Amino acid sequence: MEKLKDFVEQRKIFIAAHRGASGVAPENTLAAYEEAMKGHADMIEVDVQMTVDKKIICYHDFKLGRTAQGRKPISRLPLKYLKKLDVGSWFDRFYQSQRIPTLDETIDLIKDKAYLNIEIKSNKKENNKEKARRIYEVVKRNDYIPYTLFASFDLALIADLKSNDPDIHIAGIKIPGNDTPASELKAKYGIEAFIVSIDELTPELDKDCKDNGIYLAVYSVDNWYELEKIKKYHIKTVVSNYPGTISNVINRYFPVTI
Ligand code: G3P
Ligand code: CA
Repeated sequence: MEKLKDFVEQRKIFIAAHRGASGVAPENTLAAYEEAMKGHADMIEVDVQMTVDKKIICYHDFKLGRTAQGRKPISRLPLKYLKKLDVGSWFDRFYQSQRIPTLDETIDLIKDKAYLNIEIKSNKKENNKEKARRIYEVVKRNDYIPYTLFASFDLALIADLKSNDPDIHIAGIKIPGNDTPASELKAKYGIEAFIVSIDELTPELDKDCKDNGIYLAVYSVDNWYELEKIKKYHIKTVVSNYPGTISNVINRYFPVTI
């Protein structure tokens, strides 16, 4: 697989699976990542958290409750406990055997098949710098740095990672309602890409990214109506919960893309 940098330069547009193919399988599970690859997603977006024993796992929320039984914060629970939880039944009983994947297991599954987009969520109650460093170390140990994009709403956190390893790729995620131009964020934090909600796309934001060499990613794009809405913009990455559906029709909206 070519390095992410070369792939992005050559492809007009590509598809990232949001929390895996989370429209058709439970988010952030190996089943969702497998479905994403079956649906020809080029990149898999994952959310990560750190356990009390400092292991990095793929899980969206800071606390249990929405996709797994319990109420406690992930940061106060050990991996061994978390590994017993069923994170599939909330979506469909068919997925009751799904367990929280570690970041190592995820990389093992997608290696040489898909690029990785890791969203690092910061939280006032945690040591975010340590969490980010440990996430970086997992990617490094798996030799997946050239194929990975580190993203966050917390730009200082990913800029700090990049200051320790200038080879990593970083993206800022637009904080809804904060209209600081991406070009200013690039100057301050060195972001290479800007990930924006479809509800916040504007011609000005699009132009600012295009004029300043910042790749624009939009989330979440799940149907023809949303594809129609984004086709006038210079989108590099379509982030979707239904990568299989989008990959089947994307050429209709962005001709000669795949
Ligand atoms: O890629 C951006 C997107 O993943 C951020 O939102 O809540 O799905 O993690 P969320
Ligand atoms: Ca995310």
